[in-house]
Amino acid sequence: MGKSYPKVSQEYEKAVEKCKRKLRGFIAEKHCAPLILRLAWHSAGTYDVDTKTGGPFGTIKHPAELSHDANNGLDIAVRLLEPIKEQFPLLTYADFYQLAGIVAVEVTGGLPFHPGRPDKDEPPPEGRLPDATKGTDHLREVFGHMGLGDKEIVALSGGHTLGRCHKERSGFEGPWTSNPLIFDNSYFKDLLRGEREDLIRLPSDKALLEDPALRPLVEKYASDEDAFFADYAEAHLKLSELG
Ligand code: HEM
Repeated sequence: MGKSYPKVSQEYEKAVEKCKRKLRGFIAEKHCAPLILRLAWHSAGTYDVDTKTGGPFGTIKHPAELSHDANNGLDIAVRLLEPIKEQFPLLTYADFYQLAGIVAVEVTGGLPFHPGRPDKDEPPPEGRLPDATKGTDHLREVFGHMGLGDKEIVALSGGHTLGRCHKERSGFEGPWTSNPLIFDNSYFKDLLRGEREDLIRLPSDKALLEDPALRPLVEKYASDEDAFFADYAEAHLKLSELG
């Protein structure tokens, strides 16, 4: 069964296209793709399929949600994007942050973007995003609440091909790959190469290697970048449309 999307006005569609172009230039100029991707993911990843609460509805800009432990540092992303958002008062924050997340990852830039996310007022409760110190049972539980499975866990973990950990935000320090501003499959290649002093490996990253169902996906994405791009794009689109 096909998904039915909300209808928005032509004027809204036009604003989305214009905003997309602005975001492309802005994210490239500021080298902030990793932080913006993390913002979009943390905005969407609070969705709970059972209660239909949380999700990409713009609530992450509220101090009550930004102050969740998992969101440390994302106030910077909200502030950074504000001058662009001001130019597009018509767009909801909900659409704007997911559009920014899609623009931040080159391989998702070509996907159709479906607008129509309303802004909601009520932030989700704290504790729905994954804890980096835990293993695959925890990852399956957390992603399961989003309605996502093993393939999405591994493909989306490839988001860590961008960016780094900051001691003052998460307590961890360092990038996952040696080219943290390039979206490629190096996260998986480096993960299989084992520990390296200059690269970070969270317990949740290592857990992917130890799980008999997840490890084959890591190996597949490490050896076949096109397969990673295809599965990542599909999973990111799902994430951005939760709820
Ligand atoms: C699988 C469970 C996940 C865990 C436990 C996790 C955990 C973390 C942690 C601890 C950081 C470091 C934050 C900091 O110190 O700045 C981080 C950063 C990041 N995460 Fe994840 N993450 C997960 C999944 C994802 C997913 C699904 C995406 C997107 C598809 C993603 C995208 C990012 C990006 C791009 C950064 C870098 C941000 C920057 O450079 O400022 N993560 N993640």
